Amino acid sequence: MRILTGIQPSGTPHLGNYFGAMRQVCALQDKGESFLFIADYHALTVSPKPETLRQNVINLALDFISCGVDLDKTVFFRQSEVPEVCELSWILGTVAPMGLLERAHSYKDKLAKGFSANVGLFTYPVLMAADILLYQSNLVPVGKDQKQHLEITRDLAIKFNNEYGDILTVPEAYIPEEVAIVPGTDGQKMSKSYGNVIPIFGTEKEIKKAVMNIVTDCKGLEEKKDPDTCNVFAIYKLFATPEEVQKMRENYLGGNYGYGHAKLALFEKIWTHFEPMRRRRAELAADIPGMMKLLSRNAERARAAADELLSKVREAVGIR
Ligand code: ADP
Ligand code: TRP
Repeated sequence: MRILTGIQPSGTPHLGNYFGAMRQVCALQDKGESFLFIADYHALTVSPKPETLRQNVINLALDFISCGVDLDKTVFFRQSEVPEVCELSWILGTVAPMGLLERAHSYKDKLAKGFSANVGLFTYPVLMAADILLYQSNLVPVGKDQKQHLEITRDLAIKFNNEYGDILTVPEAYIPEEVAIVPGTDGQKMSKSYGNVIPIFGTEKEIKKAVMNIVTDCKGLEEKKDPDTCNVFAIYKLFATPEEVQKMRENYLGGNYGYGHAKLALFEKIWTHFEPMRRRRAELAADIPGMMKLLSRNAERARAAADELLSKVREAVGIR
């Protein structure tokens, strides 16, 4: 079974990304043949500065490898290093009905946010379908927001197969329900776009500041507090053992335990949890060309899989 997912290089990872995406990707490495790529072509649709894009790609590679992506187990590469995906995207575009793309949320949402639509933004789901179909992926782990893109991918694969013969593997989405939504410092979903994040690779000062900013009610030190409505407690639970969670619950319910205490305990947990990853990240960052070379080598492995499928597709549609 081939498992594939792509991640957009778009800035500093936070606890939501870690629990919602990075940990899932690492856990799946042992479940099948795993492909993971940095979706830099997709990132271009919102026109980042070239230097920012380059840096974000490097950071994403550092983040994922230091958090446990193993380059021997996972074919981890940069999307643009297998440009054949653009050829498949073009061919799929010719079987994609306009209406299907006009209904895509990602495009409609960007328009609503005031991005002037470029064609890349409009055909984003076709490129994503090409990513998935090029590598004959069976299972695609994604967040809920990507569900429609997976449906479009399946539609395009089925449509292509009906027209040209049974060539493309129709993939399944894997949307883990059990992944809790990590709350941000203001209690909404943690997200870069809400400015409520706790970065996983921030400095001690940055992380402490973010934790201290978590919004709580204004109960005084001696008052009893409700753990189940508290953001600090909700995030603490992600890091602590069941015994530690129970102890914290008792602290809340017992009174004489302030939010400041809980925040410090949470900070300690976060800081210790990411200590080995920080160390690994610093090691990797000392040799970025070396790391990028490893990604390029992985892209060669990806390309071998891509070539195999693409020859069949070209043959089927009559361009070779
Ligand atoms: P952001 O909202 O900060 O821009 P992205 O949309 O880039 O984050 O999300 C990247 C991945 O991280 C997705 O798989 C998404 O499901 C996951 N993710 C993001 N925020 C959270 C969160 N608060 N809780 C759980 N998972 C999250
Ligand atoms: N669109 C995805 C996101 O924004 C990233 C992505 C691009 C992707 N190509 C993919 C995810 C292929 C899974 C499979 O999160």
